[in-house]
Amino acid sequence: MTNISIDDLKSIKASGQKFAAITAYDYSFAKLIDKAEIEVTLVGDSLGNVIQGQQTTIPVTLDEMAYHTTNVKRGIRSSLILSDMPFMSYATVPQALDNAAVLMQAGAQMVKLEGGEWLTETVYALTERGIPVCGHLGLTPQSVHKLSGFKVQGKDANAADKILAEAKMLEEAGADLLVIECVPSALGSNLASTLDIPVIGIGAGSDTDGQVLVLQDMLGISDKAPKFSKNYLAQASSIQDALSAYRKEVLNGAFPEPKHGF
Ligand code: KIV
Repeated sequence: MTNISIDDLKSIKASGQKFAAITAYDYSFAKLIDKAEIEVTLVGDSLGNVIQGQQTTIPVTLDEMAYHTTNVKRGIRSSLILSDMPFMSYATVPQALDNAAVLMQAGAQMVKLEGGEWLTETVYALTERGIPVCGHLGLTPQSVHKLSGFKVQGKDANAADKILAEAKMLEEAGADLLVIECVPSALGSNLASTLDIPVIGIGAGSDTDGQVLVLQDMLGISDKAPKFSKNYLAQASSIQDALSAYRKEVLNGAFPEPKHGF
């Protein structure tokens, strides 16, 4: 597999095919993910939950994100490395520029930021300076307290329209990718068909251009598996086989099933 680029993901979308993404936090798993030819490797701030045992992603620091990005980078040859900017590391444009630079120098090829309209200036500033951006809308875990918990977002027409409008704003500001988390499947579908950029869903139905799962969820070793995840290790004889089965099911449309959606 050659290095996966943003253009490759856009071509996959344009051809009506799907791609897979998964989180990784270290060298050993990154190697297995790369070998499974999973297109995108997300160094997620979910490391707060699954590596550190925290209740939320809020305690995760920039230094920790850079440390894990560096370790993942050593295991990847082809997969596109996307790293999360942690809580309050992009509250202002100058902060975002300085902190995104740290993650890019640690090995990220794109950074992910949670938020909508308020982020458009930041997305523009980053992309103008050569830092590719992935937006993240729907359930944005860094805002868990403001959202009063980990809840499905965009359930009524007004909330769905707001997410759709903000997604378009992020695209217009220069975002190259969007993660949409925990929204009704119909909204996931609408986002993927409305936006030109690839949309990666997690708990957003089967019609998004790509799917992402947290590694520990799909290996069945997280504290509480979310409804939208699937334990691929339960039916596989190795972690390598589980990762390959996950990618295969995303690409052939077998995952997610209706029961994984909202
Ligand atoms: O941090 C993470 O793992 C994420 C995914 C839930 C998309 O942002």
